[in-house]
Amino acid sequence: MRAAVLRAPGEQLAIDDVSLRAPGPNDVHVRVAASGVCRSDLSIQDGTIPHPLPAVLGHEGAGVVLDVGDAVSTLAPGDHVVLSWVAPCRSCFYCLRGHPELCERGMDHAFAMPYAHASDGTPMLAAFGTATFGEETVVPERACVRIDRAFPLDLAALVGCGVVTGVGAVRNSAHVEPGASVAVIGCGGVGLAVIQGARLSGATPIIAVDTAASKFALARQCGATEVVDADATDPVAAVRDLTGGRGADFTFEVVGRSATIRAAFEMTRRAGTCTVVGAGSFTDMVEFGAMQLMVDAKTVRGCVYGATDPARDFPEMVRLHEVGALDLEALVTRRIDLTDLNDAFRAMDAGEVARSVIVF
Ligand code: APR
Ligand code: ZN
Repeated sequence: MRAAVLRAPGEQLAIDDVSLRAPGPNDVHVRVAASGVCRSDLSIQDGTIPHPLPAVLGHEGAGVVLDVGDAVSTLAPGDHVVLSWVAPCRSCFYCLRGHPELCERGMDHAFAMPYAHASDGTPMLAAFGTATFGEETVVPERACVRIDRAFPLDLAALVGCGVVTGVGAVRNSAHVEPGASVAVIGCGGVGLAVIQGARLSGATPIIAVDTAASKFALARQCGATEVVDADATDPVAAVRDLTGGRGADFTFEVVGRSATIRAAFEMTRRAGTCTVVGAGSFTDMVEFGAMQLMVDAKTVRGCVYGATDPARDFPEMVRLHEVGALDLEALVTRRIDLTDLNDAFRAMDAGEVARSVIVF
C-alpha cells in the first residue's frame, strides 16, 4: 500500500510502497478513508517534535475496518471508525482518574514494534500509533471508535485530533461557562475548533487573535464575535480593551510558542484561566514573575488532546455536527491527494489553510 514516509527531520515526505505487519490478536486492520493534516505532523517533519524515524506520519484519520484480530470483540469488518492517537488502557493510574488522554500505556504501541516495512525491508514506525498518511493501517482496538456509517468519513477524520483537541479544551479542561469572555490566540484548524467550542458553551465575547488576516472570516464563521490582527496591533491591549480593561475570563493559546503563551497569560483577567493547547518545543521556555503569579491568582494549565475520552467524545462531536451545533465542514479548506502532502505542509506554514484533508 502507498504511504507518506519521513526518513529524516527536515526532509520532504516520500510516497513509498510499504507492507503492513499482520494485525496481532488485539489489533484492527483499517482502510484509511481520510486524514487531516495537523500542525503536529509538520512539527515532527521539521524536527520541533523529536520522533524516531523512518515513520509514517498522520494522526487525524477515519476509515473502514477491513479485518480484526482474534481477541477483538467490539468491532467487525465494515465498521466505520475514527482513530485516536491515544489508545487508553482503562486500568492505569490516569485512566482510573478520568484522564484517559494521559494513559500511561496509551502510546506504547507506537514505539513497541514497526507497523510496516519498506520495499527494501527497512522497518517503519507509525507516528502517533496511527499513521493515517497511508492507505491502510494497523492499530489497537482501543484506538478505534465506531461511528455511524452514514457520517461522512472526511469530516469524521477531523474529529480524531483537531476537533476534540479544540472543543475538548473548552468543555473538558477550562469548563467555559455561558456568558464568559474568551480570547483565542491562533486560528488554525485547532484554534477554530476552540472558537466553535466557545460558541457551543455560550461564551461572549469570543475574541479571535491571529497574525494572518486571511483567517478572520473563517474565525467569524466559527463563532468569533471580535477579531484582532496581532501583526497590526498589540493583541494584549486589544483584548483588554474588549473586556472592560481586565482581560478575558478564559484564554487559549493554540500556536505552541513561548511568546504567544506569555501573551495569552497577560490577556487573562485576574483569577481567570489560561489554557495552553499548542504543542511547542521542549526547549522554548516561558517566564512568569514570581510575585505576579501569586498576586494575579490566574490559573495556567496545559491541556493534552482536549482532555478527551475518545469513546465518549468522538461520537459526541459527530452528534453535535449532525444537529448543527458544530460546523466541521468550515474547518476543511482543501481536499487533497496523498501526493499533495508536502504542499499541504507549505500551505499550513504559510497560514493559507484551516485544514487540508487527504481523501484516499
Ligand atoms: N500570534 C497569533 N497567531 C499566530 C501567531 C502569533 N504570533 N503565530 C502563528 N499564528 C497563527 C497562524 O497564523 C495560524 O493561523 O496560529 C495558527 C496556527 O494554526 P496551524 O498552523 O493550522 O496549526 P493547528 O493545526 O491549528 O495547531 C495549532 O495546536 O495541536 C497543536 O501542534 C499543534 O501547536 C499546534 C497548535
Ligand atoms: Zn493533531
